[in-house]
Amino acid sequence: MDDRALLGGSLPKIGFGTADLSGPVDALVLCAIEAGYRLIDTAQVYGSEEGVGAAVQKAVAQGVVTREELFIQTKLAPDCHGYHEALRCFEESLDKLRLEYLDMYLIHWPVARGSEETYREKNIATWQAFEELKARGKVRHIGVCNFLERHLLHFTENGMTCPEVDQLEIHPGFQQRGLVRFCRERGIAVEAWSPMGRGILRKPEFEAMAASYGKDTGQLALRWNIQKGSVPLTRSSDPAHMALDLELFDFEIAPADMAKLDALNTNTDHQDIWSYKRQQMY
Ligand SMILES: NC(=O)c1ccc[n+]([C@@H]2O[C@H](COP(=O)([O-])OP(=O)(O)OC[C@H]3O[C@@H](n4cnc5c(N)ncnc54)[C@H](OP(=O)(O)O)[C@@H]3O)[C@@H](O)[C@H]2O)c1
Repeated sequence: MDDRALLGGSLPKIGFGTADLSGPVDALVLCAIEAGYRLIDTAQVYGSEEGVGAAVQKAVAQGVVTREELFIQTKLAPDCHGYHEALRCFEESLDKLRLEYLDMYLIHWPVARGSEETYREKNIATWQAFEELKARGKVRHIGVCNFLERHLLHFTENGMTCPEVDQLEIHPGFQQRGLVRFCRERGIAVEAWSPMGRGILRKPEFEAMAASYGKDTGQLALRWNIQKGSVPLTRSSDPAHMALDLELFDFEIAPADMAKLDALNTNTDHQDIWSYKRQQMY
């Protein structure tokens, strides 16, 4: 994988997501860190920042990892866009996470509900706060989620820096190829959310393909993402799955099988949520 696409090597090759975990977040995230995850993804809206903070504190106190070995990222909620709101929410998130600095701060969605007329100005003001936080050393990297080409270009067209990361829904059923290519060309690293594609590969044909590598279809979906150059963010409340989802670097999907997975692409097999529709319209 292109080293530039992993922020010069500082971005781990796989991350652990914390939206909708079934069980206590602190115990599950500690379990994930013990299993070997180093990138932990949370967000203001997930309500998991406090649990992540407790897990990180425990993992460091118990000598499982050092703070520097971890890559902790959180996201600014859509209804908190704007310069002052972003700075205030950042401090709140940092407090909940019990951290001195963040590894990555992300804007969660480009267009918030009710800000269809003002989202451009709000994104610019938010980004100004993000750039300041980075300059002050409070955050190592700054990025966005779910931004399309036009949303990304808006920053550079206004003389601002380009986001370092775009976190996007990506799996064999919804590959966003044009957007991913656009990011690659500009050195924007791509993180993949919902990398399993809500079970798209759970069919006899793909179960047989996964078995031919000695893997399950979840691992096949994650490995497909890695070979495509993205950083998958997996999520599991099951310690057995957590361990399996890290076993991705002892096999390679052959070109013919990659072609079969690539052929599953559609423009429609994505989450059906209001924020997606808004993002497409503006
Ligand atoms: N930026 C955004 O807008 C955005 C949106 C959505 C998500 N995200 C981030 O991305 C993360 C991942 O997304 P997601 O939660 O939708 O994704 P996912 O990892 O594609 O799917 C999670 C599901 O896969 C199952 N699973 C995990 N490993 C498995 C395996 N080896 N075999 C079979 N099933 C397996 C889990 O069940 P078990 O618990 O039983 O293992 C869980 O039900 C989120 O937690 C969040 O951090 C970001």
